[in-house]
Amino acid sequence: MDIPWWRDAVVYEIYVRSFADASGDGVGDLAGIRERLPYLRRLGVDAIWLTPFYPSPMADGGYDVADYRGVDPMFGSLDDFDALVTQAHELGLRVLVDVVPNHSSSAHPWFQEALRGVGRDRYIFRDHTNNWKSTFSGPAWTQTPDGQYYLHLFAPEQPDFNWRNREVHEEFLDVLRFWLERGVDGFRIDVAMGLYKAEGLPDVGDQSFTSVSPVWGQPEVHGVYREWRRLLDSYPGERMAVGEVWTDDAEDLARYVRPDELHQSFNFAWLEAPWSATAFRKVIDDTLAAVPYATWVLSNHDVVRHRTRYGTDDPGAGLARARAALLTMLALPGSAYLYQGEELGLPEVTDLPDDARQDPIFFRSKGELPGRDGCRVPIPWTVDPPSHGFSPGGVEPWLPQPESFAELSVEKQEGVADSTLECYRRALALRRALAGEIPYTLEWLDSPEGVLFFTRGPLICALNCGTGPVHLPEHTEVLLTSGPLKRGLLPQDTAVWLRRAS
Ligand code: GLC
Repeated sequence: MDIPWWRDAVVYEIYVRSFADASGDGVGDLAGIRERLPYLRRLGVDAIWLTPFYPSPMADGGYDVADYRGVDPMFGSLDDFDALVTQAHELGLRVLVDVVPNHSSSAHPWFQEALRGVGRDRYIFRDHTNNWKSTFSGPAWTQTPDGQYYLHLFAPEQPDFNWRNREVHEEFLDVLRFWLERGVDGFRIDVAMGLYKAEGLPDVGDQSFTSVSPVWGQPEVHGVYREWRRLLDSYPGERMAVGEVWTDDAEDLARYVRPDELHQSFNFAWLEAPWSATAFRKVIDDTLAAVPYATWVLSNHDVVRHRTRYGTDDPGAGLARARAALLTMLALPGSAYLYQGEELGLPEVTDLPDDARQDPIFFRSKGELPGRDGCRVPIPWTVDPPSHGFSPGGVEPWLPQPESFAELSVEKQEGVADSTLECYRRALALRRALAGEIPYTLEWLDSPEGVLFFTRGPLICALNCGTGPVHLPEHTEVLLTSGPLKRGLLPQDTAVWLRRAS
C-alpha cells in the first residue's frame, strides 16, 4: 500500500492573527500568509494548518464562528483564500483548515434565531442548569431574557451545538463539502472529543478537559467522525482530518484514530511530558503501541511555548532543550506538528500588559490566569520595531512584541549557522532526505540513565536529559546536532542524529 502523504508529514500551524499582516491594520491576514509561503517552503514543512479565519466577533480569537462558509474581512476574502490554496499547492504545500463543530458564535444566525425562540433544539437550552463549569472559568450556563439557560463549555459567546439534532450533522457535512470543493487537503477538528454530552446532563465531580466524563468523550461522537470519514474518502487526493482530542491515555486517543474515523489525533501527552528521559520514553512507547499513525506536537496556540516550559527550573536551558526535543520529535515515526515561531526559538511572552490581553481566559478568571496571549504574539520577521516586519509601515501589532524579538527575528537568524531557524531547516531537510531509508518502526538501544538512544534503520537519535555529558552510541557519522558536542561527547540538554554502523 502506498504511504499516505499525512503519515509522516510535518505540519506548520499558522495562528492567522499573528503570522503576517499584509493589509497594514496590525492583524495578520491571508494575503500576509501568501507572501510568506516561500519562507515555509524553504523551512521544509509539508503542510500548513490555518486557525479559524471565518467571520467572527473574536470573543475567542475566531474560535467563535458566526459564518462557517466565509472569510472575516479582517483576514481578507474568499478570493484571498482561493489564491492562498492555489499558491500553496504550486509550492507543494498542503492546506488544512480548522473546523469548529462543538459550538458556534452567539452571533451565528442559528443562535440569533434561537434567542427569538426559533430552532432552539440546535443548541442546548434548559430550564435548569447543572454544575458544569466553563473551560474558561465560571459557570457553563448563561440565562437568556426569557428565563431559559443555554450551555457553553467555553465563553458565553460560544453556545454549544446539540449534536443529537440531525440538522447539525447535515450542516457540518455541508460545511466540510464547501471547503473540500475549494481544494483544502484536510481539517483540524476543534474540541473533537466534545460535541456530545451525556443524556440528561448529569452533574459531574471532576470536569478536567482530558477525561471521559458526561461532558467529554461520549461514545456517540465516533458516529460523527465515521460520517466525516466517508465524506473525506469520497474526494480524490487523500483528504484527511486530525482531531484536537485531549484524553487521559493513549488507548482513549486510539478510539478516534481508526480506519473508518479520524486519520490522526494530536498527541498531547508528548507536549505535556516534563523534561525527562523516562517520561519521554513512556509517551513514545504508549503512543506507538496504541495508535496506527502517531503524531507529535510540542507547542500550539493554547499552551505555554515549550522553550519556556522546559526552562521552568533552569531558564537558561530552555532553548537548548527545545532544540533537542525538536530533533527527537522529528526522528520519531509519524507526523509532527510545529507551531509558528518555534523555529525562531520564541519564548512565551509573560509580561504582556493587562490592557493588551485579549484571551477570554484572562477576563473570565478575573486576571487570575494569564491566558494564552503569551504564545500568540506576532512573529518578528525583521529586526526593526515597531512590528519587526509583521505589519507594513509603522503600524503597531495587535499584541505588543517584547524587545527580545529583534534578536530572534527571521532576519537576524537567516544564514547564521548555529541559529535555531537554521537548525530547523537542516533537521527538516535531512528528515526529508532520509525518509526513503527509514522504516516506520523504532527500536531502543541501551543507554545511560537520563538518556535515550533509539534507532530506525540507518538513523540513531540520542537525547541527553541527564546532568552530564555521555558517550555516543556506536555510529559511522554525526549527521546533525541540536547544539555543539563536547570533545565527542553528547552534553546534557542536547540531541544528535547519527548514522548507524551497518
Ligand atoms: C480549542 C482551541 C482553543 C479554543 C477552544 C474553544 O481548544 O484550540 O483555542 O479556545 O478550542 O474553541
